Amino acid sequence: SIDQRVDSVLKLMTLKEKVGQLNQYSGREVTGPTSDRKNYLLNDIKTGMVGSMLNVKGVKDTREIQAIALQSRLKIPLLFSLDVIHGYKTVFPIPLAESASWDMSAIRETAHVAAEEAAASGIHWTFAPMVDIARDPRWGRVMEGAGEDTYLGSAIAKARVLGFQGDKLGGVDAIMACAKHFAAYGAAIAGRDYNPVDMSEQQLNEIYLPPFKAAADAKVATFMNSFNTLNGIPATANSYLQRDILKGQWGYKGFVVSDWGSMREMVPWGYAKNGNEAAQKAILAGSDMDMESEVYKKELESLVKSGKVDIKFVDDAVRRILYKKFELGLFDNPYKFSDEKREAKVMNDPKHKEIARSAARKSIVLLKNEGNILPLKQNFKNIALIGPMVNAKRDQAGSWVVYADTANITSVYDGLQTKFSNTTKFSYTQGTSVTDTSSAGFAAAIANAKNADAVIMVLGETWDMSGESKSRTDISLPGRQEELFNAVKATGKPVIVVIMAGRPLIFNSIADKADAVVYAWFLGDEGGNAIADVLSGDYNPSGKLPISFPRNVGQIPIFYNHYNTGRPVTKPKDITYKSAYIDSPNDPKFAFGYGLSYTNFTYSNLKLDKTALQKGQTVKISFTLTNSGKVAGEEVAQLYMQDKFASIVRPVKELKDFAKVKLNAGESKTITFELTPEKLAFFKEKEGWITESGDFKVMVGGSSDSIKLETSFELK
Ligand code: IFM
Repeated sequence: SIDQRVDSVLKLMTLKEKVGQLNQYSGREVTGPTSDRKNYLLNDIKTGMVGSMLNVKGVKDTREIQAIALQSRLKIPLLFSLDVIHGYKTVFPIPLAESASWDMSAIRETAHVAAEEAAASGIHWTFAPMVDIARDPRWGRVMEGAGEDTYLGSAIAKARVLGFQGDKLGGVDAIMACAKHFAAYGAAIAGRDYNPVDMSEQQLNEIYLPPFKAAADAKVATFMNSFNTLNGIPATANSYLQRDILKGQWGYKGFVVSDWGSMREMVPWGYAKNGNEAAQKAILAGSDMDMESEVYKKELESLVKSGKVDIKFVDDAVRRILYKKFELGLFDNPYKFSDEKREAKVMNDPKHKEIARSAARKSIVLLKNEGNILPLKQNFKNIALIGPMVNAKRDQAGSWVVYADTANITSVYDGLQTKFSNTTKFSYTQGTSVTDTSSAGFAAAIANAKNADAVIMVLGETWDMSGESKSRTDISLPGRQEELFNAVKATGKPVIVVIMAGRPLIFNSIADKADAVVYAWFLGDEGGNAIADVLSGDYNPSGKLPISFPRNVGQIPIFYNHYNTGRPVTKPKDITYKSAYIDSPNDPKFAFGYGLSYTNFTYSNLKLDKTALQKGQTVKISFTLTNSGKVAGEEVAQLYMQDKFASIVRPVKELKDFAKVKLNAGESKTITFELTPEKLAFFKEKEGWITESGDFKVMVGGSSDSIKLETSFELK
């Protein structure tokens, strides 16, 4: 068995070699020109002082470096790791965008293709999926996750893990996934990256941990801890998270890698006096591999020799890492993933483009469509294209791309030209850049609009305004883009706005005055074609927001599953001594779960299989969904629940199930959801997960703010 093989290797290892397995370096330099860093890294690899490399990719380079690792005494192969976040060679929509598809098989498929490409290029391990719940769009990393909801986020976590890893590790088309960042990184105070997190045990367990649990249940090979403190303790040194919950309660068998330099960061946090203390705290807390802090390499040996760290902690960490190397098959063939022929073939597989286009179309959310201006009318013969993102290529790829190969990326301009080459004339004026401070370009844009039958404006953030360490205090559409919109709209021409961004932005005058608004996030290589598919009506949009869009920064954090308060607003105008703002409504501009289609859906005939149930029973909820419009389309039907009275107050609603359903015009289907005992439970401090008797409200609709059917049942 693998366990026996691991033990047999462990027995041969010196303490130094064990420590080496726990050390991970980043180093593109290893294959670059001679430098001190290169010599340093190569020497450590050759002497068995490295367990894994990050940022070395490609068959040629990984083969060359693996050969050096095999010169070490025990010939233990390296793990090659990389941030394959939304594609490797083929760039797929950013994770937040893809989450708007609510389509688990599409999400699994893009992760699978990313794994296939990365694996063909010598990579064994990706630092994805990021499964952090994020309720604060100021946080730049919101682009990398599945949004604000725990239920949706857990389903997506599972889909992504299965996509990367397949059902079982060991194939040459699968790589190890990594559930990150453990834990609660998305709740950094004020949305500022790397900030502390202060949170109740109840919120942690109920809102932030379930996507990690879902990843663990899907057998994710690794976890990464986070840069934040949790209630005063750096995640990397957090034994409650890593030993009690992850490796204890959940019985997790994979290994935990620290985030980049996070062990060393215990010193500036004021949690460890020096690297020695940091290493001790990290290993005792269950951090198995040290990414780029070098504190394990420098300190662990003496910590063990002095008795400050029991060797059993080191052995456990080494065992977990070796296990994965065996599972991947690297001990049998260290070059298993390094095959040049396969690399060339997989990287140029034309199917990957089709999959990218399909995922991109599914990620688009139609926010507004006044008078059904979309799909584009036949009589729009001359269309003005205006805005800084019309020709966006690199920007459309978003943050975290391995190859930002702009030659592979289709802009909106290209996509529209291809789609409408025989019917429509497009004329382009930029009007403004994303960060312009002057309005010098406005006049030309206005003139262009005046000569056209309709205008398509493509606006947004640049790719590097979201991502790691890209938090913003002001998340309105940057620069003077909204002003340009107002000027163009004042021409009286119909204006369709497409917005590209890595987060929810604030764009109130566009939302109020544009004829149509299409939220396109960053869609990757095939974005331009996908947007053209939606604008033309060749694809009927089906995306729904995985995160609330605030009206203003002051509302943040804003999320649909909030509490009622003792003074809820029941009539919008009556806010005196109510839980309200005097200068803004409470509700978001666009709610979680919201998104339009070119057809309409009606909900009817809600039925429960029982209205009173005993503890441990499941209630089945069924209803009829009808496409009552004129074209085929897909609806994401959503089930929400409220536990009406409980021993701790419960949210006004919580997503408990959803189904993405395709219906032809006029077609109806019966949809059945289930509320299982686990879905009725909540987390109570000191007691854990419990269910309580009482009344539960059941709500079904097409968005968290558009409940169409309602009923209730009693739990005895
Ligand atoms: O994987 C990432 C992590 O999410 C943030 N810090 C750096 C790591 C490796 O690139």
